[in-house]
Amino acid sequence: MSKQRVLSGVQPTGNLHLGNYLGAIRNWVEEQNNYDNFFCVVDLHAITVPHDPLVLASNTLTTAALYLACGIDLECSTIFVQSHVSAHSELAWLLNCVTPLNWLERMIQFKEKAVKQGENVSVGLLDYPVLMAADILLYDADQVPVGEDQKQHLELTRDIAIRINDRFGKKKEPVLKLPKPLIRKQGARVMSLTDGTKKMSKSDPSELSRISLLDSPEEIKRKIKKCKTDPVKGLEFDNPERPECHNLLSLYQLLANKTKEEVQAECTEMGWGQFKPLLVDTTVAALEPIQSKYNELMAERTYLESVLEKGATQANEVAINTLNRVKKSLGFLSI
Ligand code: TYM
Repeated sequence: MSKQRVLSGVQPTGNLHLGNYLGAIRNWVEEQNNYDNFFCVVDLHAITVPHDPLVLASNTLTTAALYLACGIDLECSTIFVQSHVSAHSELAWLLNCVTPLNWLERMIQFKEKAVKQGENVSVGLLDYPVLMAADILLYDADQVPVGEDQKQHLELTRDIAIRINDRFGKKKEPVLKLPKPLIRKQGARVMSLTDGTKKMSKSDPSELSRISLLDSPEEIKRKIKKCKTDPVKGLEFDNPERPECHNLLSLYQLLANKTKEEVQAECTEMGWGQFKPLLVDTTVAALEPIQSKYNELMAERTYLESVLEKGATQANEVAINTLNRVKKSLGFLSI
């Protein structure tokens, strides 16, 4: 039996952080042997908010290098850049024409990001989830491994696919495959270091709120030293009154590869003064191999470019078939 297909992606906006790693990329790596994988650097999504053209290309390359440095294996996975496969934009247009405007207006991420943009909200920001649906549906993906914040976008993707199938498919021959979100319980929502009730995010103006995968040991130490804690004695998971405590213990658990029970047994009696250095050492040790692999890869630009060139060819082959299938079912003239 052929393997199920996985597709996922990260926006090349600034440095990837522990939320991106623990909520998404690490899970891609752990599961990749079980699937046929397509991992995309979603650069078209990165321009839905104001962007700097001088850094878009380099951020795209560094994101791809980080995929590899985190352990994506080209034997079972394809890494490519979204804008290198024009079918993404083309399918997004076709899907736009069946997606009701009010479905997009209710997207939580749109509402959150739109507030920050004020008068300058672009049509692209509103349309962002339709492009994401195109990314996924083009590859007939069975599973989409993401963090919790993408769940609503995955539901929308399914709704769009159902609408296309209802309108243009035959009963036994759907046009598009319905994907499922793959959201792990652990790591699905890594919280900010400065506020345990807010998601760790690339767009938080405070650098202290997140640990980037490329932070130096000194930076990691500084951020953990300054992170928000509480005056309660002892450390515990799952106390809603202690969101920072839960978040920091969860980070430790994931980065140290321990079970919740092990961490509970080890840390219940600890104070912050004892726990923070432990979290610093664990984080530095977990990121060190990724950083050294990343540095090696960045010294081999030609190799990286060849990976992306091959990835674009492989992705294109799959994407163009789906695009043609959709165009045929919508009734376009072919030549
Ligand atoms: P992006 O670039 O914001 O985030 C990339 C991945 O990281 C996850 N993530 C988190 N997980 C846990 N805790 C956090 N604090 C945290 N922050 C981010 C996200 O859930 C995501 O899995 N729309 C997507 C990119 C995208 C995409 C796609 C994803 C475009 N097309 C197709 C999957 C399939 C996004 O903005 O991710």
